[in-house]
Order: sequence, then structure tokens, then C-alpha cells
Amino acid sequence: MNTHHEPAGTHDFDHAYWESHWAAGGTGEDDAGQDLPVSPYLPAEAGSLAPGTALDAGCGVGTEALWLADRGWQVTGADLSATALAQAARRAHAAGLDDRVEWVEADLTRWGSGRTWDLVATHYAHPDSGQLDFYEHLGGLVAPAGTLLIVGHRHGGHSGHSGHGGPAGHGSHGGGSGGGHPEGATASLEGITGLFAGPAWSVEAAYENERSIQRGDRDLTLQDVVVRVRRS
Ligand SMILES: C[S@@+](CC[C@H](N)C(=O)[O-])C[C@H]1O[C@@H](n2cnc3c(N)ncnc32)[C@H](O)[C@@H]1O
Repeated sequence: MNTHHEPAGTHDFDHAYWESHWAAGGTGEDDAGQDLPVSPYLPAEAGSLAPGTALDAGCGVGTEALWLADRGWQVTGADLSATALAQAARRAHAAGLDDRVEWVEADLTRWGSGRTWDLVATHYAHPDSGQLDFYEHLGGLVAPAGTLLIVGHRHGGHSGHSGHGGPAGHGSHGGGSGGGHPEGATASLEGITGLFAGPAWSVEAAYENERSIQRGDRDLTLQDVVVRVRRS
């Protein structure tokens, strides 16, 4: 087990923070993320897996959950924010995917009922517990032979922006914060893979990546860390 967890950030990424984030539209704009493309890491890392059950941990307005549901997965989308989940449910209904996805309001740093999933995926969720404790907890939700896909903000990276979109927020698929992320909301490749170094896991993919996305009139550069592990 890795004992060098990165310190918590100075922000409180608590329930009130995320509710106000989504109540404000999620991005500071009014589309609440619904037109954004799926995270490129999900098709790249999970696109060849046989559909089963999946948990999208910190699903926001549900873009990745709906992508999986549309490809035959039975999906649980879980998030702290009721506002985000309501938007996700509206999108599922509009897409005719009601029967393939359930929405659960939960604090995933504590949530657990003994239930496990074939795939647990998380994209840019950063709770106030700190990243590595969160990822370790998610590992406990993965079924035997199941997969955990972690996409986060890279520790030591910084997200930049150009354009003029006002104060940056945590947009879907990037959480593109124009001013970068506090350290406690980031994780290093070594920190994440260290959590899964034991015999119970195989590390199948681990890399850093920089990519650009456009949010409204802002160009954001994201510094990502991506880890895919498989439980024995
Ligand atoms: C930056 S958003 C990313 C949303 C989505 N995964 C995406 O990529 O568009 C982070 C999400 O994690 C959720 N979240 C943060 N802490 C959480 C916690 N403790 N339990 C469940 N969800 C949490 C927030 O409500 C928010 O929707």
C-alpha cells in the first residue's frame, strides 16, 4: 500500500461545492456539459471490454455513463450532486437509456454495500478526501477479474487556458480549471500505480497525457493521468 498520499488541497471539494458547481451549470456556461464528447480515455481503455456492469464514480451529468449504457453496459452513475444526477437522468431518458442506467446520490469516499462492478471508471472526480484514498476505496468496488479505470488531473501538471470565458470551472471531461488544480485534487502516476502494486492487481495501462479541449470560447490544456488496472 502506498503511504505517500498527496496532501489534501486547500479547497473544500465537499457537497456544497459540487452542488453549487452544478447548480451554476457545471461549467460557468449554460449547457451543463451535455454536448461534450465522451472522454477519449473511456473508448481507448474500456472500449474492447465485454459489456457487464459498470460504475461511473463521480459521473456528473453522465456523459461517460451514457456512453457505456449505449454500448450494452448496465450502468450505475453515482455522484454527490443531486443536481448533476437530475440532469444525467434527463439525458438518459432523452436517449432512451432509462433501463440501462441507474443514478445514485452518494458520497463515494464512504459508499459501499458489498456490491461490486465489472468496470469502475472515474473521470476527474476529486473529493475532499484526497485522490489516493478515493482511488483505493474505488478499488474495493471492483468485482473479481474486473477493471478499474482512473482518469485524473496529473500531479505537478497545470491546466492552462486562453480565450475569455470568465472564471474557469470544472468542466466535464477535463474539469478544465483555467488556473490549474490545487495539489490535493491531483495525483501522480506513481502514486496511483503504487496503490495497485500487490498481487491482487495487474496494471494494464499507466500514462500521462496532455490534451486540448474547447469549452465555449476557452481553449483548455489538460494534464491528465490515466491508469487502468485489473483485479485478479
Ligand atoms: C470535475 S466533475 C467530473 C464529472 C464527470 N466525471 C466528467 O468527467 O465530466 C467531478 C464530479 O465528482 C463528483 N464528486 C466529487 N466528490 C464526490 C464524492 N465524494 N462522491 C461522489 N461524487 C463526488 C462531483 O459532484 C462532480 O460531479
